[in-house]
Amino acid sequence: MNPSELPSPPGPTYRGFYRRSVGSLPDFLGDKLAFFTKVWKDHGDIATLRLGKYEMILLSHPDQVRRPLLENASNYDKQTPGYQQVAFVLGNAVFTNDGEDWKTSRKVFRPAFTQDQIRGFTQLMLTTAERLTDRWDQPVQIVEISTEMTRITFEIMGEALLGSDIQDHVDAIGSSFPPMLEALNARATQRLPLPGWFPTRTNRTLNRALGDLHRVVDEVVRQRQQLAANTNDFRDMVSYLLEFRTEDGQPLSVERVRNEILTIMLAGHETTGVGLVWSLYFLSQHPEAMEKLYAEVDALEGPLRLEDLDRLPYAKGVFYEALRLHPPAWAFSRRALEEDQIGPYRIKKNAVMIIAPYFVHRNPKVWEDPEEFRPERFLPNAEKKDRFAFLAFGAGPRACIGAQFATNEAVIVLAAFVRKFRWKFVSPTPIKPTTSFSFRPEGTPMIELTRR
Ligand code: HEM
Repeated sequence: MNPSELPSPPGPTYRGFYRRSVGSLPDFLGDKLAFFTKVWKDHGDIATLRLGKYEMILLSHPDQVRRPLLENASNYDKQTPGYQQVAFVLGNAVFTNDGEDWKTSRKVFRPAFTQDQIRGFTQLMLTTAERLTDRWDQPVQIVEISTEMTRITFEIMGEALLGSDIQDHVDAIGSSFPPMLEALNARATQRLPLPGWFPTRTNRTLNRALGDLHRVVDEVVRQRQQLAANTNDFRDMVSYLLEFRTEDGQPLSVERVRNEILTIMLAGHETTGVGLVWSLYFLSQHPEAMEKLYAEVDALEGPLRLEDLDRLPYAKGVFYEALRLHPPAWAFSRRALEEDQIGPYRIKKNAVMIIAPYFVHRNPKVWEDPEEFRPERFLPNAEKKDRFAFLAFGAGPRACIGAQFATNEAVIVLAAFVRKFRWKFVSPTPIKPTTSFSFRPEGTPMIELTRR
């Protein structure tokens, strides 16, 4: 049947001139998670809603996300409002590009993520995790855990990407990221999407942070071009960017190198840091899981080594289960280039798909007792799930390039942490996620660390 003859997926109806013009925009600008949850509960696993001029399709089941992510992936691109905001800040690069530009980026990074390379990066993770967790050397200490975890993942990413010779610059990049992210979030939620040059306070903060970041990254690249040899145990990622030549022998432009660096820097540390904080949080709420993890980690001898990764399946289960319940990329988007069909429904040309790992992961048709925290779901002997049931790292040709990197890193940081400390969350208010750029905990969650 021709898709044009099919009905659109069900969804809210809009009555009156105002509602017909804005659709669900006012609800969306409030509590996004509550709003999408209501749409899912009221209308099911595939639902249509309208945000201003955009028709959005919320997809919450593996059978529906498979179509835009894999089966008909070439009909869907990333020219969506969400990705346009990201591109506005980070410039066009691997995360936001489509077509030939995207293929070039993947070609540049492919050799940087081989098994051998990942082994080199893992060695770096081992030393950094030990060094950084050693900083908390008091018998009892209170720390702001989101900042601390993000600092660890940022340092690891900085060195894997840029090498160890430019530590001062990595620090400078680190201090420009938080204001940039804050401004990005503020832009994403403003009612009137003003252009970047418009002198609002948010745009001014954003442009200042971006100016600082561009200056530092350009300086790093200049220095790296002058360094004779890479002095690390692994080849850092920037060397692949600098050595890359297009088919007609041209290097990547200065702007493109900068965009790719900023993109990997952001995509590669914020998400893993957030996943680690949620892992610690869920463990603190589930003493029986915490004890299993202590037992697994205490069975290891001597300093943590690369080989220990295979002996930490429960730690990996904890991280993945935290990503299932609180996926850092809780929803991401695609635009339909041409009309399509998903299930019995018509997808109109230009409709925006909201692919929602958060709802797929909590769908009772897919996961048994989905609200329960059970790391056992991800142990090697657990029942195998549909590939599209766990979407924390996306799926299909545009799946996360750094999934293995992030997994090794999280398991190592978790193991290093658990070996040294017991902890409890001591914030006076309940810990809940924000739906900003990532699904990080609201505010500044504090934990009390006790040396074991
Ligand atoms: C827990 C950690 C991480 C999570 C939850 C995560 C999640 C994701 C998701 C969901 C996507 C797909 C987005 C889409 O299809 O629209 C993605 C793509 C991507 N991720 Fe990750 N990521 C993580 C860590 C990393 C790391 C460590 C790196 C780099 C070292 C990285 C680099 C990328 C890149 C470059 C893409 C774009 C791939 C493409 O479009 O071809 N990510 N990530």
